[in-house]
Parts: sequence; structure tokens; C-alpha cells
Amino acid sequence: MIRLNNNFNKLQASYLFVEIARRVNEHAAANPERKLIKLGIGDVTRPLPPSIIKAFHEGVDEQAEASSFRGYGPEQGYAFLREAIAEADFTSRGCPITADDIFVSDGAKCDTGNFQELFAEDITIAVPDPVYPVYVDTNVMAGRTGEAKNGRYEGLVYIEGTEENGFVPSPADLPETGADLVYLCFPNNPTGATATRAQLGEWVDWALAQGSIILFDAAYEAFITNPELPKSIYEIPGADKCAVEFRSFSKTAGFTGTRCAFTVVPGAIEIDGVKLRDMWNRRHSTKFNGVSYPVQKAAAAVYSPEGKKETRELINYYLGNAKIISEAMTEIGFQIWGGENSPYVWVKTGEDSWETFDKLLKGADVVVTPGSGFGNMGEGFIRISAFNDRENVLEAIKRIVKALG
Ligand code: MLT
Repeated sequence: MIRLNNNFNKLQASYLFVEIARRVNEHAAANPERKLIKLGIGDVTRPLPPSIIKAFHEGVDEQAEASSFRGYGPEQGYAFLREAIAEADFTSRGCPITADDIFVSDGAKCDTGNFQELFAEDITIAVPDPVYPVYVDTNVMAGRTGEAKNGRYEGLVYIEGTEENGFVPSPADLPETGADLVYLCFPNNPTGATATRAQLGEWVDWALAQGSIILFDAAYEAFITNPELPKSIYEIPGADKCAVEFRSFSKTAGFTGTRCAFTVVPGAIEIDGVKLRDMWNRRHSTKFNGVSYPVQKAAAAVYSPEGKKETRELINYYLGNAKIISEAMTEIGFQIWGGENSPYVWVKTGEDSWETFDKLLKGADVVVTPGSGFGNMGEGFIRISAFNDRENVLEAIKRIVKALG
């Protein structure tokens, strides 16, 4: 008789943002007259910039003509997009990455979740705490962990982000077991912390020495405005031999509803004589049929001169929100992290995270994300997202200050 994958039973009842949506919907249904403001899930609210929409329309129109119609595209993505990415995001910053290393996909969430498939079942995996829950849940689903106890899964190694390390753990924070695979995310989701060249350098040197691999989530790199901070892990020498990088157009260019991202798997990474890039290519071309042509055209327009200017304005708009949130939270006496070079503000409220969440939802009609949803180390914190329209952020801040100040 058919049996189910029992690893799913180990998971918490629902994905963090699904649980938040459930509570929000319940509150909204009971209070239909109140205006809710969402600073919870990091979902963009501003429309796609004009030059990107124009390219998107052109792509659709090309599909309407027999002479320009396209069926299946290359699974890895069209060369015009991969080449634009390689040049603008990597070669121009001195990173040894070529178009062959780029794999276009419909989201960094899927790619960060799927990449673990390439590795043996019994490797040691390290995840940060606080953590973007996808890294953990996908390893649980794949059977790489035991049961959850006190908020942590048996078999996973947790590297703790703390106030002391500024939420940037280093290899020294690993237990003696070490790790074969490490997930890192900078600018960090959820804490907004950024890693310096020296800090990333420590991880790269450690991975090269140990023969380990780093899965580096750079979905928020576009928010880095400080020129001293690395945007890509490949700005660190040697990273092309030990790190895979995940990028997304979601937050960079407003693509959360349009769907386009990419993963970089450098040809220089070899494990047991096998190129990791070839393995990912095998997996990607078996399980994925590529992103639609009009969407890839729209994504390529992000790299045009107008696209660069317009997306920079978009990012600055959200960074302006992050500044408003950061200043208001600091003014009422909370310690904060992030909010600069990041769209997330990590606020230490010092009380139970879900309690603060409920207080703000029910008392102020504002949605934030409870820190404990990202792991044990997030208890006592909330994450406030800067993704919303300015007037909503100003109104939400007024309400938060009244409720918590
Ligand atoms: C978040 O709010 O953490 C992100 O929006 C989640 C995601 O990008 O999948």
C-alpha cells in the first residue's frame, strides 16, 4: 500500500508566513472595518519600473507573431539574460563568473530549497539561527534531520547569530562537528545584518580548508549602498571554488509576482572529480523548463541604463522606509539591527515575539514578523519589513509607536 514521506510529520504545522497569514485573515474577517498595514512578509508594493514593463510587453507581443514566437527556451535561461547578468553583476566587479555559471529560475526560494538534493544524505549541514526557514524545512523534508526538540532539529548544526556577534556568525561559532554544507545569507534575512569582506573571507578560507560548500543567499544584495561591503561572495578570492550564490529579481526590481531569479554555480567547483555545475545543470534541465520568454526579457531590461536607474530609485524608496522605521524604533528606546543596506529592521522588544505580533495585529492593525518564527535566537525580537508604500509605513510607525512606545 502507498505510504507517505513521514519526514513531513517532523515539520512544524505550517510554514511561518502561512501561519502569519492565517492569524491576519482571522483578524481581518473579525474586523472588516479596520485598515490593516502589512510590514510582515517581504513583499514589494511598488509597480514594475517603466523600462521593465516596456520590455515585458515587447516580449508578449513577440509571442503573438509567427516570426518571433518562441516555444521551450533553454532550461538554463536565454543567453541574452545570462550574459547581461554575468557582465553587470560579476565580471564588472572583478568576480570570475561567466554566463555558463548562471542558471535562471523562477525564484531563489525554490533554488535555495532544491540545491541540497545534490549532496549525500549523511553530510553535516549548518544553518544560521535566526534563519530563513526554507533552508531548514527543505532539509527536513529530504530526511536529513531527526525530530524537532525545543525548536531545533536533531542532526542539524546551528550557528548562532547573537547581539555579541552582531548577527554575523563566524566559522568559530561552529561546534566541533564542523559542517560540510553551510547556508549563509547577507544582507541577512531576517536580521538585516551585513557581512564585511573580512567576515566573508573567514568563511571562504574555512570552506576551502575543510572541503566544505557554502550556499550563499544574496537575494537582498541590491540594498547594499556602502561601497565597502561585498555584494557577491565571489568578490572574495577563492569563493568560486567553494560557494554557490543565489540571487533574485524579486526585491531588486519588484518581481515577487513576476518571478525571476538565478543561481550561480561556478565551473571551478569540483567534488570527487565531478563539476557541481554539471550536476546542477542535470538536475535543472530534468526538473525545470525555464522561465517564460517575456519575463526573461523584462529581467534583462533591469540591466539597461534606464532599468538600472529606475531599479536604483525603487531600492532607494524602500531604503527610505527602512530609515524611517529604524529611527522611530530607536527613538522609543529599542535596540535595532539592519535597516541600512537592508530592507529589514530587526527590533529587540525583549518580550515573547508572538505576543508582540498579536499586540500589534490586534491593537494597531499592523503586521510584523515574530522573530521566534526564524529560530530560537529570534525570541524577543520582531522583524519589520520596509516593503510598503511610504504613507502606509508612516501610518504603521505611528501606530507601532503608540502600541509599544
Ligand atoms: C520574507 O519575508 O522573509 C521573504 O519575503 C520570504 C521570501 O522571499 O520567500
